[in-house]
Order: sequence, then C-alpha cells, then structure tokens
Amino acid sequence: MKNKTREITQILKGVRSSDGDGVQLTRIIGSSELNLLDPFLLFDVFGSDKPQDYIGGFPPHPHRGFETVTYMLSGKMRHEDSAGNSGIIEPGGVQWMTAGKGIIHSEMPEQQQGLLSGFQLWVNLPASQKMTEPKYQERTDEEVPVEQLGENSHIKVIAGVTQEGTQGVIDNTTILPIYWHVQLEENTVFEQSIPSLHSAFIYVIKGQLLVGENSKKLSTAELAVLSNAENLIIKATTESQFLVIAGKPLNEPVERAGPFVMNTKAELRQAFSDYETGRLTN
Ligand code: FE2
Repeated sequence: MKNKTREITQILKGVRSSDGDGVQLTRIIGSSELNLLDPFLLFDVFGSDKPQDYIGGFPPHPHRGFETVTYMLSGKMRHEDSAGNSGIIEPGGVQWMTAGKGIIHSEMPEQQQGLLSGFQLWVNLPASQKMTEPKYQERTDEEVPVEQLGENSHIKVIAGVTQEGTQGVIDNTTILPIYWHVQLEENTVFEQSIPSLHSAFIYVIKGQLLVGENSKKLSTAELAVLSNAENLIIKATTESQFLVIAGKPLNEPVERAGPFVMNTKAELRQAFSDYETGRLTN
C-alpha cells in the first residue's frame, strides 16, 4: 500500500558556522549533515541579539546559477547590488532573488544593536535558466497573505497555495515552491496537501510538533526532512511556529563552489573566470 502521509526521514540540527564577515549562523542544508535536498542547496538560520554576531554582514560577493531567498523575522537587512538595486528587508519581509547569470551584492544589517534573525534558503535553477537575467521579488510583511486557521493559528503564505486556496506572493513556475510560516496554538492539528513528488522539510522556530501518522516528535531549532507523499499532518503539542518549505526536484547534476552553482565543472571554472575578469554581471 502506498504511503499517503509524509513522515520524518531525518532530523537535523545543523552545523554552527560563520559566513560573510563573521556572521554567526547555523547551516542545516548545504552542510556536512545534508549537502543538498534537491532543489534546495542551502538553508541557514541566523538569530542573535549580540551585534558582534552579525554586524560584519555580508560585504559584496557574487552569485551565479541559483536563487537566494531571505526571510526576516526580526531586525532589518539592507541589500545593494552591482546593477544599482537596493532596499531594506524588514521584519516579516521576504526577498526572492534570482541571481541567474550573475550578480554582485551585499547584505548588511541595517541596525547597530538588537535582535537580528531570519533565514536564507538557496534554490537551484535548472540548466535552462542558470544564465537568465537577474531579478528580484520583494514583498513586505503586509503584502504576504495570512490564512487564519483559528484564533491564534494561521499560515503566512509566502509561496505556494494552501488547501483553502490562499495563494502565495512569490512566482516560480519551475520548482513550484511552497514556503509557509505556520503558527499553531497548543493542541491543534495542521493538515495540508503538498505535491507528492516535491522535496519537503519543516523547520521548527519554536514549540513542539508531532509529525505524520507516526507522530514523530520535532522540537525547536530542528529541521525534519519529509518522505514523499501528499498529505502533511502536524500536531502542535505546545504553541508552535514553524516553516514548511517544499519544491519540485530538478534532477540535474550539481557542481558547486562557494557562491556559484552550475551543472558542470567547466561552467564553474567559467563563473570564476567571469568574476575575476569583471564579466559576471555583463
Ligand atoms: Fe548573497
């Protein structure tokens, strides 16, 4: 009999690391624990109220061949790029950046003190789109629809569509992403369907969940990779907040080095050479 409910196949806590100019973060996907969850290349969690953990930010650096998705929970991040685009991502806001053929940008905290927390997800692009023109999809907290599930329970729908039909604000017809920020009150059950062939994971921001028919326990700061099936059943045993992220796998070869993610080693070498000779963004 085919399993109809997504179950936890792996629980990860990630690896403490530092990126940019000394920004402290926990890398969960794109780490030695889990290199890739096709189409997701990386998932970082950052959160600190100590300025020394984030003040260095991410000074100018390149990207080619994929998309970066920044979702802020607290604090503000300013971004600027080589094409003259700039903006500030505020709490609850999301930036879905398609680096495509190349971008050089910086991501710097727009604050000297206080809490800065959020997530960065890297989404791969298929071979046919790796050299596409860069673009941004930027949405503020107010622009992201929230579907109310109960008095203190809701889904903030960044990407994808819920069973009730609430449509997210991000457009991506390639991996058809789901990116939900869910809040549940104690002892509530959350049921949704997700395309069964999507890769999917849950990250618990806070609280305690029981996932699937197997009711496997998942706690704060843990990431669960889910099996392929259509139904998602999650029970919150305490008041909880979590992310549900899913996308259609690309099933293509992945060659990656630092800020470049291509299909072949030759394309990677080309990316480094283009960056060194100033042609990455032309
Ligand atoms: Fe970046």
